[in-house]
Amino acid sequence: MRKNGLDEDVYILAIESSCDETAAAVVKNGRQVLSNVISSQIALHTLYGGVVPEIASRKHIEKINQVVEAALEEAHMALEEMTAVAVTYGPGLVGALLVGVAEAKAIAYGAGKPLVGVHHIEGHVSANFIEHPDLEPPFVCLIVSGGHTHLVVVKDYGEFEILGRTRDDAAGEAFDKVARAVGLGYPGGPKVDKTAREGNPEAIRFPRAKVEGAPYDFSFSGLKSAVLNYMNHAKMTGEEICVPDLAASFQAAVVDVLVSHTVDAAKKLGYRKVAMAGGVASNSALRAGMRRACKRAGIELYYPSPVLCTDNGAMIGAAGYYEYMKGARSGWDLNAVPNLRLGER
Ligand code: KG4
Ligand code: ZN
Repeated sequence: MRKNGLDEDVYILAIESSCDETAAAVVKNGRQVLSNVISSQIALHTLYGGVVPEIASRKHIEKINQVVEAALEEAHMALEEMTAVAVTYGPGLVGALLVGVAEAKAIAYGAGKPLVGVHHIEGHVSANFIEHPDLEPPFVCLIVSGGHTHLVVVKDYGEFEILGRTRDDAAGEAFDKVARAVGLGYPGGPKVDKTAREGNPEAIRFPRAKVEGAPYDFSFSGLKSAVLNYMNHAKMTGEEICVPDLAASFQAAVVDVLVSHTVDAAKKLGYRKVAMAGGVASNSALRAGMRRACKRAGIELYYPSPVLCTDNGAMIGAAGYYEYMKGARSGWDLNAVPNLRLGER
């Protein structure tokens, strides 16, 4: 499935504003990225140690027109040449999502183009299609972002069977909270990743949580508490904390669980292909651990480049293409759905 019924190329103008990146992209036939413009607010939110929703919405409003214009310009294309406009409508921060949704509706209505609402997590999964032309469903996918941790079977484009999910914190959230506790700052994931490279992952034995009766579910709150307890204990006894060892040991505990759940599921259910998606999928220890385990199990592993793992417009363009080809069209009443669940419309 590459072209629409008229045998024309399909160009999607995609918009993403669910959290702290204002992003737009032009994607051709679902897998070819003609432009991918990302305006990050990270520096702004760093001042507060995390994303401040009200500030995020205001910044999106300031940036969105420029970002969309830049995406078209970099693609050397005009709005009239687009086949459809795709936009993330959930899940995410409601005020942030609304900016993208309003922009997409205005552009699509004004230009007379179809509008396609995209699920943010479907976008993350679809980032894998961009750099792996051979990857097609079905496959097992580990989705690990700041707000979500899901283990799914991607049965077809945009069709998911959920095998497991987190019972408490998302994997990225655990990284962010631990980073804040040890003073590494925001955003925590990349900082823990970098610091852990100088540490010993076996220095401290942190728990690898299993959820009774739900082999593919995750729980990270116990691990987060174990890290905090370790720090409190060290403080009370006057021991010095080796931050790189702590970061590496925490990261190893997260990675072990993510890798074992994913590879177990693929083996048990008989899938030979595994993909990863979301911001945490750019973690170097997770990539290395998953590579090792998949190689041992004879499983083909896929993950996007780091820039396509964290929030971006190209992934929404890829997902938007497959939704468009299936005939999905949103009305002019499309609204932001902050707690949109995977598999829901
Ligand atoms: O997918 P994403 O950009 O946004 C959401 O949809 O949530 O993911 C952001 C999350 C943050 O929690 C961030 O700390 C984490 O991904 N992250 C990482 C790394 N890069 C980003 N976590 C671990 N290691 C990384 N290298
Ligand atoms: Zn995301």
